[in-house]
Amino acid sequence: MSQEDLHIVILAAGKGTRMRSKIPKVLHKLAGLSLLEYTLNLSHQSKATSVTVVLSPDQMEIESLIKTTYPFVQIAFQKNQRGTGDAVLAAKNQLDDLSGTVLILFADTPLLRLETLQRLSTHRQKTSAAITVLAVDAPNHPGYGRLIIDEKSQVQRIVEMKDATDTERAVPLCNSGLMACDASLLLSFLASLTPENQAREYYLTDIVQVARSQGNKVSYIQAEDPSEVMGINTRLDLAKAEEVMQNRLRKASMLKGVTLLDPSSVYFSYDTKLSEDVVVHPHVYFGIGVRVDSDVTLHSFSHLEGAYIKSGASVGPFARLRPDTVLEEKTRVGNFVELKKTRLGKGSKANHLSYLGDAEIGEGCNIGAGTITCNYNGYQKYQTILEKGAFVGSNTTLIAPITVKEGAYIGAGTVVTKNVTSNALALSRSPQVEREGGANSLRRRFTQTQKKTS
Ligand code: UD1
Ligand code: CA
Repeated sequence: MSQEDLHIVILAAGKGTRMRSKIPKVLHKLAGLSLLEYTLNLSHQSKATSVTVVLSPDQMEIESLIKTTYPFVQIAFQKNQRGTGDAVLAAKNQLDDLSGTVLILFADTPLLRLETLQRLSTHRQKTSAAITVLAVDAPNHPGYGRLIIDEKSQVQRIVEMKDATDTERAVPLCNSGLMACDASLLLSFLASLTPENQAREYYLTDIVQVARSQGNKVSYIQAEDPSEVMGINTRLDLAKAEEVMQNRLRKASMLKGVTLLDPSSVYFSYDTKLSEDVVVHPHVYFGIGVRVDSDVTLHSFSHLEGAYIKSGASVGPFARLRPDTVLEEKTRVGNFVELKKTRLGKGSKANHLSYLGDAEIGEGCNIGAGTITCNYNGYQKYQTILEKGAFVGSNTTLIAPITVKEGAYIGAGTVVTKNVTSNALALSRSPQVEREGGANSLRRRFTQTQKKTS
């Protein structure tokens, strides 16, 4: 069987009112990536000949996302949201004169896997069906349309919940919403749709009946895992889908050789990259753009975004790594340490209570507890440079722009306002005074005041 052309239409024009959000439904995110982008990435992986997204004309934000990030995608506009059937028809120009299979996907179904998408289109071709529906076993689902199957195991029609009788509602076989259609027949099926139903909408699901009435075959396959075709309509659905996505990401990382001490407490982003023998303690958060090389331990309650952590490093507990942080090999970042746009050189340590922002820190440096880079004056940001082997004593304030040269030593409590030369000792302290017996006289004074006021 030769491979036919595959064309994908993604419906995304719906208002998504059930989300109760200012943000368009399909821009809500799972593991840091928008719902729509999951479907777009999948379409890209499927090597489809064409991909069209149907948008509403007021979805400018989505339009610009597609134009900048997915230039291979065509955009069609559905003026009024009159139902899923009308939405596919909005891509009429893109669907005209095509052969092969048109796969209709929903942008609110982000958990779909490539295998299932391929199985759906291959099945249609193999069974020479005009339409193949992706069905799912979901007894008592409150929203899904029901598949009515005839004695020849063909789909006779799909009935939406709003229009279903009690007997039809009791059918466990549901419509996932996704369909593969014969590209040469789809537009003619759509042209026959009418909005004669409870919702007064043009239902895509009605093309099944149209196809059957013209003597065509309509087959179906079942999704192996119901969660894979889950449509996201509410924030509750979003949370359920997030759980499925997180479990997928956790599982994938463990199969790649990562140890998760308490998998269910670790949060991943879609693009988190962890190498072999990374050990992740409970409650670690991976924001977007984190890459971790092998043999790194990430301790509990660490929050990482846009950071690259190289081999042998140890991070946390309670560390915060913000975008453009690089931890070179065998570095140590301990509790309550925040790094932003900072490179920590090989073997360097910042073990306790520090803020290091806009800094280049060389090899083998020690950053004492309470060290702060003052990188921002309310207007501009400035760099701090610490060269190889610099030792920064506890509670040091580094007023940027500043350079501490190789091997310099900064005494605890210093406010560094001038560059420090190589191997110099920099100190800025007010002299300490001591009064003999002063502690006792102080205590006497305080006791008397206490007596007077009580
Ligand atoms: C749809 C199916 C239902 C199925 C369910 C699975 C229909 C009529 N119903 O219902 O059988 O069980 O999905 O999740 O197809 N959209 C447009 N323009 C419109 C309306 C919708 O582009 O005018 C888009 C939405 O953005 C969304 C998709 O189509 O991505 C599905 O629409 P939605 O309203 O969520 O359909 P459901 O009610 O979930
Ligand atoms: Ca839906």
